[in-house]
Amino acid sequence: MHTMVLSAVAAATAALSLGALAQSPAAPVDPNAFLNQFEATFGKFEGYRRSGAKGICATGEFVGTADARGLSSASAFSGQPVQVVARFSVGGANPKAPDNTKGQRNMALQFNLPGGESWQMGNISAPVFGSSSPQQFLGRLASLQPDPATRMPDPAKVKAFADANPEVLLQGRHFASQPVPASFGAVNYWGVHAFGFVNAGGTKQFGKWIFEPVGGVQGLTDDEAKAKGPSFLFDDLRQRVKDGKVAFNFNLELAQPGDRIDSATVPLPEGRKKVNLGVLKITSVAEDAGGACLTITYNPMVLPKGVEPSADPMIAARRALRRGPGAAPDRRAKTAVTLLFL
Ligand code: HEM
Repeated sequence: MHTMVLSAVAAATAALSLGALAQSPAAPVDPNAFLNQFEATFGKFEGYRRSGAKGICATGEFVGTADARGLSSASAFSGQPVQVVARFSVGGANPKAPDNTKGQRNMALQFNLPGGESWQMGNISAPVFGSSSPQQFLGRLASLQPDPATRMPDPAKVKAFADANPEVLLQGRHFASQPVPASFGAVNYWGVHAFGFVNAGGTKQFGKWIFEPVGGVQGLTDDEAKAKGPSFLFDDLRQRVKDGKVAFNFNLELAQPGDRIDSATVPLPEGRKKVNLGVLKITSVAEDAGGACLTITYNPMVLPKGVEPSADPMIAARRALRRGPGAAPDRRAKTAVTLLFL
């Protein structure tokens, strides 16, 4: 019965126009549809992650604060050093994406916690994501799919979808307003979703986090970016880490009653109280394409006790697209995708 309903819904979903698709938040999205759409829109890059394809592994150490312990019982905030496996990447599906253009940079993290617990997150260099629901994301990707004749997205299709879903333009506006990042280690990274922090007394506080570089945000002028060329970020990161210059304050902006906490396209209002949860120091960067991050699928639903997801529908949608158990490193990622209905 359930499967029939789902396939009926899936068929109906396919028949809906792009605009209507985004307007029907209840329609489940088949993860396979996402994977196919990623490839149809951005091209096929065998063996690479479909997003954040151009990436590098790193490791680090996190130490939590007393303020964090007041907000959450998570062992990450014990005050003892916690080992972290990081992956820095350039946004998008292209493993040869240029480093010297404006756009998304990513910092994905796995905190290795006592007792076999872990905490995974994929953070981006914008305070908002490009869509607020899986259906809208799929519609947006479809609207950007290149026209076979021109091999370019059809501007009328892109505009029609964006007119019907104006929030999909917010992230692009943020990137356009920022300089080219000078380094993976000198840009802010937002979690974009709200999470609930639960302390030992059972009190839950929702908030949205941001990793802010201790050394400050640094951007390049257009001339500097041009001079840097398309592949400088990996070596830059290696050098800054060697010099001990890559560390981030892990800060939480606290939501107040009435704030939207269920949308990845609506940041918390300006001026919300910000609590420092601790400092993440990056201590090593892979010298090649290897590293411990290769076998990690950064799933934001992997949370420690003391941290809970909000009702943001995008959090669960991200989980569904993680590669299945036994997925080998990047080179063979394609074959092990687990298909889960959302
Ligand atoms: C329906 C929503 C989404 C879908 C379908 C989706 C899909 C994907 C896929 C297929 C990958 C490659 C994963 C892998 O091969 O391991 C990925 C990576 C990533 N996504 Fe998303 N994503 C979604 C929402 C988001 C949101 C809201 C964020 C914002 C924080 C985000 C941030 C990232 C990051 C940082 C990576 C790179 C992680 C890494 O280094 O492995 N994604 N996403």
